[in-house]
Amino acid sequence: MCIVNREEAVLRELNLYPQWRLRESNGKAIGHPAAPPLVASAPVQMSVPAETITDAAPDKSREQLISELHWPELKAMVRACTVCKLRAGCTQTVFGVGDEKADWLFVGEGPGADEDALGEPFVGQAGKLLDNMLAAIKLKRGNNVYIANIVKCRPPGNRTPEADEIAACLPYLQRQIGLIQPRIIVALGKTAATSLLGREATLGSLRGTLHDYHGVPLLITYHPAYLLRSPMEKSKAWQDLRLAVETMKGLS
Ligand code: URA
Repeated sequence: MCIVNREEAVLRELNLYPQWRLRESNGKAIGHPAAPPLVASAPVQMSVPAETITDAAPDKSREQLISELHWPELKAMVRACTVCKLRAGCTQTVFGVGDEKADWLFVGEGPGADEDALGEPFVGQAGKLLDNMLAAIKLKRGNNVYIANIVKCRPPGNRTPEADEIAACLPYLQRQIGLIQPRIIVALGKTAATSLLGREATLGSLRGTLHDYHGVPLLITYHPAYLLRSPMEKSKAWQDLRLAVETMKGLS
């Protein structure tokens, strides 16, 4: 089934087709997405007469469409997504896991082999370290914590996701952030950090200070997989986590 038909099928399932057309559903790079609304907007009306939607929103972009979805529709759209080339090479999409009203959002890069097999982020060796990092600051997966990735499909051979793949997938994470409304975001590794910031930089230059993601404090630290390879850096990650805790305390 081609990309357009797959997306059409999802939109039909959501009662959004044919009134809401996708502009960028042809698998091309779509550029860096615009800033998402961080307030949870009203759920998409599922039973509005066709002509009402046609008049109100004759030509909604894919980003706009995603930015208005609620959890069930968003999950369905991610499950059916074939917008970028990653989906063809992975077993399943890995949406994200945890408390959908969490104060804490941790964002990694993309699923690895274990995550691809199980459908949940950070379940391999790096995930075990992440769980330990969470425990070190008295947090627990699923308990006031949500864990997601920049891309929802495993890149082949665990390579870094490419710019067009990140651009295609980011609207989903942006909508997750809009729905969760976390009080703090912790980016794990360079890909998560630079994708959220929308600019290139080294991890070393980004960590250790507070950033901002559309009004939400953003902390940046090393990816757990990197820490497994470079355990000497764990003390810096610990400093970053403490900064995150202090930042959260300051918000209360
Ligand atoms: N690395 C990531 O960035 N995300 C995962 O889910 C697993 C490993």
